[in-house]
Amino acid sequence: MKPKVFIARPIPSEVEAYIADHCTCEKWTGASPITRNELLERLKDAEGLLITGEKIDDELLDHAPNLKAVSNISVGYNNFDLDAMKRRNIIGTNTPDVLNETVADLALALILSTARRIPELDKLVKDGKWEDQDDEPLFGVDVHGKTLGIIGMGRIGEAIGRRAKFGFNMTIQYHNRHRKPESEKLLDADYVSMEELLQTSDFVLLMVPFTEGTKHLIGKEQFALMKNSAIFINTSRGQTVDENALIQALQNQKILAAGLDVFDQEPVSPDNPLLKLPNVVTLPHIGSATYQTRFDMAMLAAKNLVAAVTGKQPPNIVQE
Ligand code: DGY
Repeated sequence: MKPKVFIARPIPSEVEAYIADHCTCEKWTGASPITRNELLERLKDAEGLLITGEKIDDELLDHAPNLKAVSNISVGYNNFDLDAMKRRNIIGTNTPDVLNETVADLALALILSTARRIPELDKLVKDGKWEDQDDEPLFGVDVHGKTLGIIGMGRIGEAIGRRAKFGFNMTIQYHNRHRKPESEKLLDADYVSMEELLQTSDFVLLMVPFTEGTKHLIGKEQFALMKNSAIFINTSRGQTVDENALIQALQNQKILAAGLDVFDQEPVSPDNPLLKLPNVVTLPHIGSATYQTRFDMAMLAAKNLVAAVTGKQPPNIVQE
């Protein structure tokens, strides 16, 4: 008998066919994303579950007595309560590596669009307000030759550093839990303290996973250390930043601008003051969202799922 799995997100048909070769599949077919209650109702028989970031906690696991594995279509797995999963011997998997270059592309897009104010000026042109291109109010700041401080030199951080170093001749410095000699060599990057990074970077880029240890890693104290001309970019998770402190820093011109792919609450509330600030470029958490990369992520998640529910070693088991 094939193991039963529940697919909670739409996935490409080729990926679904791969899972169906090995498992009996049920899937969510609603027009809008599955709600928590709907998900809880579908888990009674499931041995495997394919999701993108839905919260996996005691309550959910209590509804899933046969569950063996949860496969996330994302590299981040802050949605997993790993203790609750471990207590029940449930494997959690994620999709590292296949998204590195795509997320790095987007990080560069945020650097460029904040520095050169691209969304703001695009709006100005489309609103018919273009009067004089030599008008100082339209000027931005340079990216090339500036100092990029990367907080979190993982695989994505390094891919961002490569683009910045070799594409824009930026000076790279970084802060990380552990030193990364291979990244230092590749990028001619300096490992610096968090304090020094914040004080001396023209662009401060956050690319850390969200854990208890990185919650509000950047707050009032950290914004106070940044240059007034600093541009802050967050492509990690919204909860790594104290959003109120960020709003204050932007409103009080403590920093120049921010580029944000992620927010504390997602989807972000239309009332969030960040959406009203012209010096903030916002995106709807789309770092990895290209057709190719999302396909690759879904296929990797499917391979993880199938391996886990058929008693094989999944390629990407997450550890604490
Ligand atoms: C990831 O894979 O963690 C990306 O942020 C998309 O959720």
